[in-house]
Amino acid sequence: METEATGASSTSDLNAIYQPFKVGPRTLRCRVYVPAHQPALADNGVPGPRYVAYHRRLAKAGVGMQITGATPILPSGLWRPDRSLLNVDETIVPGYQRLSDAVHANGGLMLAQLAHAGPTDEGVDDVIGPSWGLSELSGEVSRPATESDIQRIVAAYGAAADRCRRGGLDGVEVTMAHGLLLAAFLSPKANRRTDQFGGAPDTRAELPLRALAEVRRALGPDRIVGVRLCADEMIPGGVNPQDAAVIARRLADTGQIDYISVIAGDNTHRLPRIKHWPPTPAPHGLFRSLSRVVKDAVPDLPVCCVGRVTSVALAAEIIASGDADLVGMVRAHIADPELLPKSRAGRIAEVTPCVGANDCINLSLNHQSVSCIVNPQITQPTDTELVPGEHSAVVIGAGPAGLESARRLASIGLRTTLFERSGELGGLLRLWAQVPAYREYSRLLGWWQNELNRLGVVVQTNTDVGGSEGLNADVFIVATGGRQHDETAITTDGSVQTASPDEVLRGRRIPGRVVVYDELGRRDSIMLAEALIDSGSAQVTIVTSKVHIGEGEGITTLYPALERLDNLGVSPGISSGEGRGVRGVS
Ligand SMILES: Cc1cc2nc3c(=O)[nH]c(=O)nc-3n(C[C@H](O)[C@H](O)[C@H](O)COP(=O)(O)O)c2cc1C
Ligand code: SF4
Repeated sequence: METEATGASSTSDLNAIYQPFKVGPRTLRCRVYVPAHQPALADNGVPGPRYVAYHRRLAKAGVGMQITGATPILPSGLWRPDRSLLNVDETIVPGYQRLSDAVHANGGLMLAQLAHAGPTDEGVDDVIGPSWGLSELSGEVSRPATESDIQRIVAAYGAAADRCRRGGLDGVEVTMAHGLLLAAFLSPKANRRTDQFGGAPDTRAELPLRALAEVRRALGPDRIVGVRLCADEMIPGGVNPQDAAVIARRLADTGQIDYISVIAGDNTHRLPRIKHWPPTPAPHGLFRSLSRVVKDAVPDLPVCCVGRVTSVALAAEIIASGDADLVGMVRAHIADPELLPKSRAGRIAEVTPCVGANDCINLSLNHQSVSCIVNPQITQPTDTELVPGEHSAVVIGAGPAGLESARRLASIGLRTTLFERSGELGGLLRLWAQVPAYREYSRLLGWWQNELNRLGVVVQTNTDVGGSEGLNADVFIVATGGRQHDETAITTDGSVQTASPDEVLRGRRIPGRVVVYDELGRRDSIMLAEALIDSGSAQVTIVTSKVHIGEGEGITTLYPALERLDNLGVSPGISSGEGRGVRGVS
């Protein structure tokens, strides 16, 4: 069983997660589900063929339930017609019908997450919140909702839920998380109202409770109503776990909800925006202590734990420990939608690991369709049919591209040989995976090695074949990699040494002061700075021709990287003085 790398420390009974589990009026076929996420595959705001195919595949894989991405119940500036769903009128109903039919035909349960963006909205004339607010991310100012706004919003929740019911969905998840409108009303930081919708936790819950009541009224008793609840806003004065326990109890006492999915963060603040879906090296299962607090407050209600759970072993352990009743896994299913069937069949080593690269989320925040560094074809699965007849393939170069080519060729039945000039597999990935914050990437190397063995790929290391001449095969793939920028391109008067990233990653120590010159503006220079500090360099300065270091990097990977640099010494852009530290100079 895979344990240490995925945060699972015991050998809990994996079978427990494949048992049916009752959630309100419905029964989930297993305890692992796919929480709300936006694959950005909508067709003009409705689930079209791509969206339906995406969820059909998850249903076929046997997940307990699956939830659409946050769907606005009123027009929102965050909505993109060709990306996200929009539940503001009847046009969504036939799309929901197609979606629920496809999921039901494969034994699954399909829910919609309904949302009002509130203070996280942007690009609209009128951003509404509980009180005056300013989003650190969008720069938008939100105004306090009036009573007539509140009535309109409550009615919109009911109307949207009714469309979900008529679309055949199995329920609705009302999001009260991530700083969206209902979360903002629950927050002592964002909600400073003195009327019946502000003040004590009970009155701050007034709008969320009214919205829930409308949703339940529209859905009736035989569909699921769930809540996604923020249990830690991660901002001073915001909702903390103790507040969340009180709110959870209040919600449960209405008797109108069937589960609470626990999460953290706040999308109007920079770091809390990132930390609810953190990249590696964030710990696996990092929010289980939060789900525990909520579970203790509502022992009578199913509670879901979500956040960097990437293996069924950890999911089973969370359930066995009582920290939660259900475990949600989003990115792990993006990396490998067959996670559950493979694990259930005892083929855990075949599961493509989610290593927390967060390209999926960076793309999503850019309103692009979901993709993944280890499963780039998540939205367009390739043919895995065996090629008839006897065919052979030769792949030259065992970096990530060569490894994956060999794996795929062998998996469709070609007799495959992989040649590698060096003594090890992995190419540059093996080197970069030595950087402390990126060690998790080495899980991929283990996975590829296992896959090549399983598929019978002949691997010849320490073999320089030059080119394809003299080799016999039906298919040749040359995957000898890109070239590193030549460090001699930097001219010096000879008084300073120069080194390439390769040399540093291969163990060259540079004890003194080092300047990292970054022309790419991505995470490489930051990773290299971390590697240098780790190997004993006294002071590292990153110099870039871009406006700032990491300019081309998505925020969910950039901000944690900048935070790490800060922890290593000094904030980027500020002189570090003496001693160990990293400086970023634009
Ligand atoms: C591409 C993507 C889109 C997401 N969209 C939503 C969303 O619309 N609503 C929501 O509540 N959470 C959304 N999430 C957050 C996930 O529900 C989940 O909380 C987060 O990814 C952490 O879980 P994981 O580590 O299993 O991925 C999204 C996550 C991803 C990866
Ligand atoms: S892009 Fe990275 S974080 Fe996202 S699913 Fe793939 S491996 Fe996981």
